[in-house]
Amino acid sequence: MWGICSRTLVGMAKTCGLGRPRHLVKPVSATRVAGRYLTHQRGLPALPVPPLQQTCERYITALEPILETDELTRTKELVQDFQKPGGVGERLQKGLERRAGRTENWLSQWWVQVAYLDYRMPVVVHSSPGLVLPRMNFSDKQGQIRFAAKLIAGVLDFKTMIDNETLPVEFLGGKPLCMNQYYEVFSSCRVPGLKRDSVVNHAKSSQPPKHITVVRNFQFFELNVYNRDGTPLSPDQLCLQLERICRAAQETSAEPVGLLTTLHRDVWARAYLNLVKDETNKDSVLTIQRSIFTLCLDGPGPQGSEESYHSRAAVQMLHGGGSRWNSGNRWFDKTLQFIVGEDGTCGANYEHAPAEGPPIVALIDHVVEFTKSESGPSESGPSESLPPPHKLNFKVSPETQEDLQEAERSMDRLVQDLDMKVKVFQHFGKNVPKTFKMSPDAFIQMALQLAYYRKYGRCCATYESASLRMFRLGRTDTIRSASNASASFVKAFDDPSKQNSEKVDLMQKAVNAHRWYTNMAISGQAIDRHLLGLKMEAMEEKLSVPALFTDPAHSKALHFHLSTSQVPSKTDCVMCFGPVVPDGFGVCYNPMEDHINFAVSSFNSCSHTDASQLAQALEEALLDMRRVLEHTPRSKL
Ligand code: COA
Repeated sequence: MWGICSRTLVGMAKTCGLGRPRHLVKPVSATRVAGRYLTHQRGLPALPVPPLQQTCERYITALEPILETDELTRTKELVQDFQKPGGVGERLQKGLERRAGRTENWLSQWWVQVAYLDYRMPVVVHSSPGLVLPRMNFSDKQGQIRFAAKLIAGVLDFKTMIDNETLPVEFLGGKPLCMNQYYEVFSSCRVPGLKRDSVVNHAKSSQPPKHITVVRNFQFFELNVYNRDGTPLSPDQLCLQLERICRAAQETSAEPVGLLTTLHRDVWARAYLNLVKDETNKDSVLTIQRSIFTLCLDGPGPQGSEESYHSRAAVQMLHGGGSRWNSGNRWFDKTLQFIVGEDGTCGANYEHAPAEGPPIVALIDHVVEFTKSESGPSESGPSESLPPPHKLNFKVSPETQEDLQEAERSMDRLVQDLDMKVKVFQHFGKNVPKTFKMSPDAFIQMALQLAYYRKYGRCCATYESASLRMFRLGRTDTIRSASNASASFVKAFDDPSKQNSEKVDLMQKAVNAHRWYTNMAISGQAIDRHLLGLKMEAMEEKLSVPALFTDPAHSKALHFHLSTSQVPSKTDCVMCFGPVVPDGFGVCYNPMEDHINFAVSSFNSCSHTDASQLAQALEEALLDMRRVLEHTPRSKL
C-alpha cells in the first residue's frame, strides 16, 4: 500500500549549493524558525478533483488488459450510465468538488480511514512495512547496546530538525512537497477501536513527551532521553541507560504483552478494553503510546544459511519471527519501532496510518549517517546522576492471559504463512535503463509485468504507489502498471517470430506508457482515488452505491495480484511488506545506481504463489530485457 526522499534531498542540496545534503548537517545549532512549517504548507496547492469524463475513459482503458471481452462490455455500459448527463456520476462529482472547497484535502481523511483505520486485519504483515538495514558490524550484546545508543542519538538529532522547523523541504520535479508526514511520526501511536482504530499524536500536546520506550526480553521500559537542560542524552549516557535496562530485564521475566498488538483489530480492540481496565496497565500503555518511539533490543532470531540472511532479516523486521522469537518484543501499534538485534541485524517496523515509506527512509538515512560519525553529541552530563529507566508493569488477568494465548496462536500461523524472499539483483541498477534513456522505475515495473506473464500466462491488476505529496496533506494514488502497452510487450517478448527491434519498440512504448501514467498520478489525475472519492461521496450522501462499484469487474480491478512500491534510499536497505490479497505478491524495491534490492512476499497457504520463484523470474526478466536492448543497434533505439 504504498520516493522521493533521498533523490530530492540531494536535488535540494544541489540547489542550496552545498556539497552534501543539508539534512545531514548537524541541525542542533540551527535556530528555531517558528511558523516555517505552516507557511510552507499553506503555499502548497490543493489536491484537484479530476474531471469525471476523464476518469471514466481512463478507467475503461486501465481495465482492458485485465478483463475478458464480455466483462469489459458490461463495465462499459455501467460507466456510460454512471457518467450520463444529469446522472449519479455528475451529482457525486459536484459533491466531491464542494468537499474539495471546504477541506484542506478532499481525500486524505477518507484515505486514512479506508486504507488503514477501518482495515481490520492485523497490522503485522498486512499493513505495517518492515525495513532492513545493511548488517551492522557487531555480533554481541555490547555492540548491540553501543549501536542502539548511537541510533537513538541519531533519531533525536533528526527530531531536532522537526522540533525547530528546520527540516529541509523536499522537491520532486522542481516542485516542493508536503512535509506533514514528518510531523506525524514521532510520539504517535495507533489505538485499537471496536469498529475503527484511531491514531493519537502526543507531539502536539502542551507537554510533548521526553521519553522513548525500550523493549528487552518482552519487558517495556520508559527511558527519558533528554537532560534537564533540554539537550538530548549523549550516546555515552544512552549506553549506560541501555545497560541498566538489559540488566533489569535479565533479572525478571514477563508475559509478552506486546503480542496482543499482533491480533486481528476487532479482537485486539476487545482485549485492549480488558487490559486497560487495570490502572497499572493503563498507565503502562499510555506511556508506550506517548513515547517518542520504541526501541526493540532483540534476543536471537532463527538461524540459517548466510545466503538466506537478508530474507531472515526482513521477516525479523516485518513480524519478529513468531512468539518463540521476537514478535513479543514489539508494540506493533507504535508508529516508529527501531529494531536492533544481537548479531548486527537492524532495521525498523512502522505503523502505516500516519506516513508512507519515503519519510521513514529519509529519517533512517540520516540515522545511519549519524551512527557512522564518531562525533555524536559529546557534551554529556555525568551519566551516574541519571535516574534509572522506569520499568512499565503489566498485571495479566485470566482474560488477558487468554487473549495472549490467542495472539500467540494467530501470530505463529501468520509467521508460518508468510513467504519472504529478499533478492539483491547485482547485475545492474538504475544505470542501465538510464543508458537506454528509459525511466528506471518504469523499466523495473515492466520487468515485473514480464515475470508475472511468464509464470501465469496473463496480465494482472498491478498497484504501484505514486506520491501525491505535491499537494497539501497528499498521500498516494495508484499507478496501474498493467497497461495495453505492457500487455503487448509481454505477449511479444518470448514470441520467436518477433524480431529484437520489434520487442525493443514494444518495450519502449510500455516504459513510456508507464512513465506517462506516473506523471498523471503524481499530478493528481489518476483514477483510483477519484473513484474511491465518488463512492465515499455516495455513502456520505446516503445514496445507494452506484452499480459501477458493485460490478465484479471493479472487484477484479482492485484485486491486486501484484502490490508494488519503490522506496529509494541512500542507505543500501530495503523495505518489505506482505501481499494485499491471499493469492498475490508484495514487491518492494530500492533501485540503487548499480544494483537493485527487492523484497518479494507471498503466502504459503496459496499453492500457486511462491516468492522465490517470482524473484527468480524477475531477475531473468531484467537480464533478458537488457540483453535485447544490447543486441539492438543503437540506430534502432
Ligand atoms: N532517461 C534517463 N534517465 C531517466 C529517465 C530517462 N528517460 N527517466 C528517469 N530518469 C532518471 C531520473 O532523472 C532519476 O535520476 P536520479 O537517479 O539522478 O534521481 C532516476 O532516473 C529515477 O527516475 P524514475 O525511475 O523514473 O523514478 P522516480 O524517481 O521518478 O520515481 C515513483 C517514480 C513513482 C516511484 C515516484 O514518483 C513516487 O511517486 N514515489 C512514491 C512512492 C511511495 O510513496 N512509496 C511508498 C510506499 S509506502
